[in-house]
Amino acid sequence: MRVAILYWSGTGNTRRLVNVLLELMENFLCEFTVIEIKSKLDFNPLEYDVVIFGIPVYRFLPPKEVISFIEHNMDKFKYLRKLRSPKVPFKFGVTFCTYSGIHTGIKEAIPAVKYVSQFLEHFGYLVVDELYVLCRFNGWDEANINGKCGVIADLPDNRTISNFREDMQDWFMYFMEVFHGR
Ligand SMILES: Cc1cc2nc3c(=O)[nH]c(=O)nc-3n(C[C@H](O)[C@H](O)[C@H](O)COP(=O)(O)O)c2cc1C
Repeated sequence: MRVAILYWSGTGNTRRLVNVLLELMENFLCEFTVIEIKSKLDFNPLEYDVVIFGIPVYRFLPPKEVISFIEHNMDKFKYLRKLRSPKVPFKFGVTFCTYSGIHTGIKEAIPAVKYVSQFLEHFGYLVVDELYVLCRFNGWDEANINGKCGVIADLPDNRTISNFREDMQDWFMYFMEVFHGR
């Protein structure tokens, strides 16, 4: 099972969750690569079996650099994509975002996660989960108190982190079973 952990982080919240994931991965004997997204970085999703894709939400979408990265690879590996995007067996994705939801709550995070999931699904991946992790808005104090999601100044807290860890652990146990029996 070849695993790619793709992520981008501007102020560290998303990176913090990637670190949780890396700690967790020590319990699973599998090959994995951590990739920090850059606009023009080549990434062929079909070189992996499992892709974990984490982003922050910026203006209800992924950050511009992530969008450029997706556009770049949609073009570069166009020859691997088929009409109707039939599912390729044994290709699984999990996408997640960190967001602050200060104006409309989770609604403003949904388009961003759907966007990155579509990148994987266009290559025939089955995206088995999409996780939304509420986090503080670093550098904007008022938003951490008076936004749509209330007081978020201390997020991610231990409970948030352990929920994330458990969700990811459940998925890795599932992936191990699927690939072990292959
Ligand atoms: C430029 C900018 C735009 C943002 N736009 C949104 C947004 O539209 N919706 C939202 O829920 N959070 C928004 N946020 C908050 C971030 O998504 C959130 O704090 C996230 O956890 C940051 O992750 P990072 O530290 O990995 O960059 C924005 C943050 C920045 C800096």
